[in-house]
Amino acid sequence: MKTMGPILLSAVAAIAPALPAAVSAQPKPVLDYGFYKNRVEPIFLAKKNGHTRCVVCHAESNNNFHLKKLGRGADAWTEEQSRLNFEMVAKLVNPGDPESSLLTQHPLAPEAGGHAFHSGGRQFESKDDEDWKTLAAFVNGAKTP
Ligand code: HEC
Repeated sequence: MKTMGPILLSAVAAIAPALPAAVSAQPKPVLDYGFYKNRVEPIFLAKKNGHTRCVVCHAESNNNFHLKKLGRGADAWTEEQSRLNFEMVAKLVNPGDPESSLLTQHPLAPEAGGHAFHSGGRQFESKDDEDWKTLAAFVNGAKTP
């Protein structure tokens, strides 16, 4: 194996300049379930001024953001439901890049860089919205302290 060293190295050196920039970029962050459960899920349940709660439209909706239906009289999801919600939400996220994640872009006002239309309205008027910042932190791999 020892003699392989120089050969491998020169092979890598030959290929390296041809690699797209993305390959040398930082590895993608891993989404944290604890942060999701404690900080993100409450946003889906909370009523924002002048808006309908995400869960009202997105429980078992037929678009790609489909939360589990809350149990009768329940004001939060069970642990098992939260895990499934997390897996579903992860598909709407491009880890490390809130600017290209559906979760953060779709409900954001277009003037603030969000998508042109969301049937659920401009839930976040700007990226300074505390809840939007929490969603962005989640996308960037924030962990529960
Ligand atoms: C009044 C109902 C309503 C509310 C409230 C609502 N949404 Fe939506 N949302 C929709 C509908 C309908 C769609 C699919 C059509 C569209 O893109 O507008 C959608 C689409 C989405 C999508 C894209 C899903 C896909 O299939 O591409 C995301 C992400 C999303 N909503 C996030 C949210 C978040 C986060 C909240 C709460 C902060 C929220 N929505 C509140 C109705 C709503």
